[in-house]
Amino acid sequence: MKKAAVIGYPIKHSLSPTLHSFWLNANSIQGSYEAIEITPDTFEEQIKELASQGYEGFNVTLPFKEKIMDFLSSISPEAQALGAVNTVVVKDKSLHGYNSDVYGFIKNIEENHPSFNFKGAALILGAGGASRAAIYALQQKGMEIFVSNRTKEKAFSLESDFDGITVIDWQDKENCLSEITLLVNTTSLGMAGNPDLEIDLSEINQKSLVYDIVYNPIETTLLKSAAAHGCKTLDGIEMLIYQGVMGFDMWFGVTPSVTKEIREKLLEQLI
Ligand code: ATR
Repeated sequence: MKKAAVIGYPIKHSLSPTLHSFWLNANSIQGSYEAIEITPDTFEEQIKELASQGYEGFNVTLPFKEKIMDFLSSISPEAQALGAVNTVVVKDKSLHGYNSDVYGFIKNIEENHPSFNFKGAALILGAGGASRAAIYALQQKGMEIFVSNRTKEKAFSLESDFDGITVIDWQDKENCLSEITLLVNTTSLGMAGNPDLEIDLSEINQKSLVYDIVYNPIETTLLKSAAAHGCKTLDGIEMLIYQGVMGFDMWFGVTPSVTKEIREKLLEQLI
């Protein structure tokens, strides 16, 4: 019986148990994937306990993606560059950290828009953890990167980690729409309970891809507007699914399939 888990605080709303339990079942693997709430005060003891309890590994979510880095024997180059670990593999009771968001972000584009050409420029909205994953992934692919964030200092602080990005004032973000082939929203704007992202897409090139990593609701106002302007669109749910593929593969030794069925199952849980 192989065991994996997701740790966080709080952890109730995680979609990961549904995702991994579905794949365990679909692949007839004797295993489990549970959500474990870890209280920040006892983080260290609980992590050590997990390492000795026979877990293959675990996902790490808020607020521990940085804190976990102090307890790892190795950290992958992606996780190092992003300063965050969301996937841990246990080997001989020592912990190895990875960040699967880069893989999930790119795989979502490659699988759903296989003809997308990564040679142009991208505008990334936001400057948090998801923005860092998108910048890292797209720079690796050779794209030119524009970043715009409400708090400009946060966008400027990305410049020390990612060479060659161009920071655009939040109020001027529409100005570079005609130069890009990819627009990515990594802010929390558009998510249920938050205001919509207000952006005028009239200058956007119709051949552009508009990627919203928000997945609740699945079709955000941004994606509706992008479709109305004739752009290709991409929602965030499969980024979450593809990032899960990486952990599942490392823990259980099988690459799970990304199907309509699992997508629908996760979306049902959001309703
Ligand atoms: P994550 O790690 O998931 O990317 P985060 O670090 O909380 O999340 O970042 C949230 C992003 O949404 C930030 O870029 C934030 O902008 P600020 O740096 O200015 O806070 C952005 N964001 C949240 N609410 C916003 C709003 N009302 N208007 C514009 N941007 C907003």
